[in-house]
Amino acid sequence: MAEKHFACKAEQVSAEKATIVSVNNLSVGVFKLDDGFHALLNVCPHKGAALCEGPQCGTTRETDKEEFVYDKAGELVRCAWHGWEFDIRTGEFLVDPKIRARSFPVTVEDDDLFVHI
Ligand code: FES
Repeated sequence: MAEKHFACKAEQVSAEKATIVSVNNLSVGVFKLDDGFHALLNVCPHKGAALCEGPQCGTTRETDKEEFVYDKAGELVRCAWHGWEFDIRTGEFLVDPKIRARSFPVTVEDDDLFVHI
């Protein structure tokens, strides 16, 4: 069963970039999106890069009108090594949702942010 670990103060997490914390001897990236906080293991499932240190971004997506639109702005993290993009909320790799970055539940009490590992 997951245990609750103090990660950082909620005010330390910005909406632009992950805050990297050490929780239970794991490196974890904490993100702030418009629906709250999310946490991913800071290890890319591709080749093990520090995933959460890559840019927080959106992606270009094809539409049914033979055009591309920029979508999910700020809701993805792109690995700095080979550019794989992951959904911050679920950890899913955009190209193949069977591949996932490990994600953890986050709770906030007062201004203390906890990751459940
Ligand atoms: S190590 Fe992350 S995309 Fe390759």
